[in-house]
Parts: sequence; structure tokens; C-alpha cells
Amino acid sequence: MKTALRLLTRLAALLLVLAVLVFGLAWFRSEQARNRKYELPRLTLEATATPARIARGEHLARTRGCTGCHGPSLLGERMIDAGPVMQVYTPNLTPGGVLAAHDLASFEHALRHAVARDGRPLLVMPAEDFALLSNEDVIALFVYLKQLAPASATQPASHIGPLGRVLYLFGQLPVWKAESVDHALASRGAPAPPARADVAYGAYVAQGCIGCHGATLAGGHIPGTPPDFVAAANLTPHADALGRWSEADFLRAMREGVRPDASPINPFMPWRDLRQMDDIELRALWAYLRSLPAVAPTAP
Ligand code: HEC
Ligand code: HEC
Repeated sequence: MKTALRLLTRLAALLLVLAVLVFGLAWFRSEQARNRKYELPRLTLEATATPARIARGEHLARTRGCTGCHGPSLLGERMIDAGPVMQVYTPNLTPGGVLAAHDLASFEHALRHAVARDGRPLLVMPAEDFALLSNEDVIALFVYLKQLAPASATQPASHIGPLGRVLYLFGQLPVWKAESVDHALASRGAPAPPARADVAYGAYVAQGCIGCHGATLAGGHIPGTPPDFVAAANLTPHADALGRWSEADFLRAMREGVRPDASPINPFMPWRDLRQMDDIELRALWAYLRSLPAVAPTAP
């Protein structure tokens, strides 16, 4: 009896030591990631506001997800409230908020690299979706945001909690997107392909889908969401994915949020924003999705 008790006490002590070690390591590694400094080249192009650029910037802000996360009026909002995992707030992107402090170069760092003005990584800001935006599109977004009416809303700072740090240690919470961006490629700012309903332009537009649907667009668990959260759909032309869809089916899904069998698509899929894409963008997306290798859906 006594030995059993002694064994149990030892086991408990061992577990405690292990927990302290894991937590300490998680703290250390996440602090290292959080304080990493990224040295990026500064984009020094002229950024004159023209009506065409402002209109393009507004279109991009509405169809590439900015309004989805930063709020319908871009005033910022509470985005993720996941207790000990993390608290994420999106900042106010009007000149009354953080945009006042940004020039084109620091804005480009936030957008294409998920790097803040002090060179440290931003939390959750999905630069993998924007890394390949052209310089002209970065400028369009910048001049659009700069001319918005200044609103004074302020949001608390985002932070990662103790459980989030442990998940980060085990690679389960890739919150600092700057870690996975190809910074040299993103800085190049290659021009966008001409706006045509073809595969090349579709690939450009589809950058905004990969944060949720994954790099191969085969869908699955959305990084950073709880395990039981709605998974992103497989968008490849596999017979059990979009293989049997027609272009008309796709356009209807994107504009009305319903599948060919009339079932509604979960509203986490931001079709209410995406439906503001024009015909060329949507048809280019379809052409691009058709050109992808078919990937078999994984069992749920
Ligand atoms: C998936 C949600 C999401 C989307 C989509 C998104 N953002 Fe963000 N963004 C964030 C979060 C969260 C932060 C704050 C990160 C932090 O506090 O570390 C942020 C920060 C920023 C910042 C840095 C502001 C500062 O603090 O200096 C800029 C600029 C920005 N976003 C612009 C944009 C633009 C422009 C778009 C659309 C092209 C966009 N974001 C789309 C979540 C998002
Ligand atoms: C914020 C995350 C998010 C973004 C960004 C996103 N999607 Fe989705 N999408 C989802 C989720 C989640 C589902 C699955 C919804 C469901 O199961 O009802 C989905 C479903 C779909 C469907 C329905 C497919 C089916 O078989 O049910 C299509 C089509 C689609 N997305 C296309 C796109 C395209 C094209 C883009 C980029 C322009 C995009 N999505 C961007 C999250 C997203």
C-alpha cells in the first residue's frame, strides 16, 4: 500500500515536472517567434490617389477578405475569442486608426508579409493570401484606405494565450503567417496577369482562397480553427468534389451561397463578400479550379 502511494506521488511529481518543461519550452519558443525581427525591403513607388485606383482598392477590400475580418466598415472588431488559446482583434484600417501611422512601405509589409511596423510578425493577418498581390493592387488598397473618413474606433491588442503557445509549440496553431511567406517572392510584386476569364488570372484571384481552402485548394481543416469547426470544401475537379459541377453551378454557389443540390453553404464561407467579384473574376476562378489536379476528398 505504502509503495503504491509512493509510486503515485512520484508519478504525479514527474507529470508536474513534464508539464512545467513543456510549458516553459512553449513559452520560450513562442516568445522567440513573437519577437523575431524581419528585415524587408521598402516599397518606394509613387502612390497617387486616382479615382481608378480608389475604385480598384475598394473592390479588392470587399472581395479579398479585408471587410470580412476588419469589419464591414473596416473599423476593426473582435475576431477570435478563444479563451486561453488566443484573443484576436483586427485593427481599425481607416486614417483615424492604425492607417494614420502607415506609409506605403509599412503597409506593404503588413499586407504581403504579415509584418508590423516594428518589424515583428503580426498575429493571424493572412499574408499568404496577399503575398502575390501586384504592386499596383497594393497601392490601390493603400490609397483607398487612406482616403476613408477617419473613424476613431480602437481595438485592444491581440495576444496568444498559454494554451495557444503550447499548441504553437506542437505546430497546431500557425498564427504568425510571416513564418510561411516567401518574402523575396512577395517583395517582387510581379504584375497581375491581364483581367481575362482564363487560368492565369484565375490563379491570381484564387490567392484569396488558400488561407481557408489550403495551398492545393483541396480543403480540409482550416488552420487556427477548433478541431470540430466546419472544414473548407475541396475545390478540385475530383468527381466527389467539384468534378460534376458546371460553370453555372459555380457562379450560383458564389453568388447565392447554395450548391447544385440546393443545400446552403455554411456562412463561414464568405460568399456574401465574394459575390461582389465581377463576372471575369468568377469565371477566371472557375477556369483555374478546372485546371487543378483532382484530389480525392479525405474521409470526414
Ligand atoms: C483572416 C482575417 C484577416 C483578413 C482577411 C485581413 N486581415 Fe488584416 N489583420 C488581421 C489581424 C488579426 C490583424 C492584427 C494582427 C495583430 O494585431 O498582430 C491584422 C492587421 C492588419 C494590418 C496592420 C495594422 C497595424 O497594426 O499596423 C493591416 C495594414 C491590415 N491588416 C490590412 C489588411 C488588408 C488591406 C486586408 C485585405 C486585403 C486584410 N488586412 C485582411 C486579420 C485579417
Ligand atoms: C474564410 C474562409 C474561406 C474563404 C476565404 C473561402 N472559402 Fe470557400 N468555403 C469555406 C468553407 C468553410 C466551406 C465549406 C462550407 C460548408 O461545408 O458548408 C467553403 C465552401 C466553398 C464552396 C462550396 C463547395 C462545396 O462543395 O460545398 C465553394 C464553391 C467555395 N467555397 C469557393 C471558394 C472560392 C473560389 C474562394 C476564393 C475566392 C473561397 N471559397 C474562399 C471557407 C472559405
